[in-house]
Amino acid sequence: MKQIIGGNWKMNGSRLIALEFLSEMKRLGSGSVSSEIILFPPFTLIPLMTDAAADAGIETGGQDLFWLEKGAFTGEISPAMLADAGATWFLAGHSERRHVFGETDEVVRKKLEAGLETGLRGILCVGELIDEREAGRTEEVVKRQVEFALKDQKCVSPENFVIAYEPVWAIGTGLTATPDEAERMHSLIREWVAGIMSNDFADNTRIQYGGSVKPDNAAEILSRPSVNGALVGGASLKAGSFMDILRAVPLRK
Ligand code: PGA
Repeated sequence: MKQIIGGNWKMNGSRLIALEFLSEMKRLGSGSVSSEIILFPPFTLIPLMTDAAADAGIETGGQDLFWLEKGAFTGEISPAMLADAGATWFLAGHSERRHVFGETDEVVRKKLEAGLETGLRGILCVGELIDEREAGRTEEVVKRQVEFALKDQKCVSPENFVIAYEPVWAIGTGLTATPDEAERMHSLIREWVAGIMSNDFADNTRIQYGGSVKPDNAAEILSRPSVNGALVGGASLKAGSFMDILRAVPLRK
């Protein structure tokens, strides 16, 4: 299965930075890597980046969306608006949405459902806080997040759905789970997905790792059998480091 590498720009970038980034990506050969590449810029940059990125083999996605189609929801963006802007993907439940903006499992589920129903492909982000990890609750928390989002979802398939396991304590901190820890959690997540959906669904679902993925640790993490890609924050802001991560993807997968 093709690895999937996402670049989450969070609240960073400008039109100029985006165009320079994409021309540098093309120059460095982003069009000929073996992985699927998705960039998640701020909403304002999606139309520009979608047009400029197509011939570099890069798709774009929204970092978030709202679950209703239209109406009096100041500040929100609907799934159809994302699609209209050129995005083909979205993130649901990124840890900053969960923990800075207070999104509950229920909200994340509604967002996932609405995005998939609109025909976008979604990355469900899950992961435990440091307190939860230290209290030995990692498995319970991540299992709950996966089950809550996935159970009885109608429009979901391994083609339009990806999970990103991102331990919250590893995001933006320079800390990472060891490749063994990542592998263990990914295998567990796959088991839980199999229990909710089916073995076949789980076997074909890509699970990304996220949290301080950098050029110097990417190869080790991405070569683990249960790791099918990465969701990259800081290191996706520079074409050079993002390309180094893309080049670290093992060819056999
Ligand atoms: P980071 O962010 O790579 O900067 O830790 C990852 C993410 O938030 O998806």
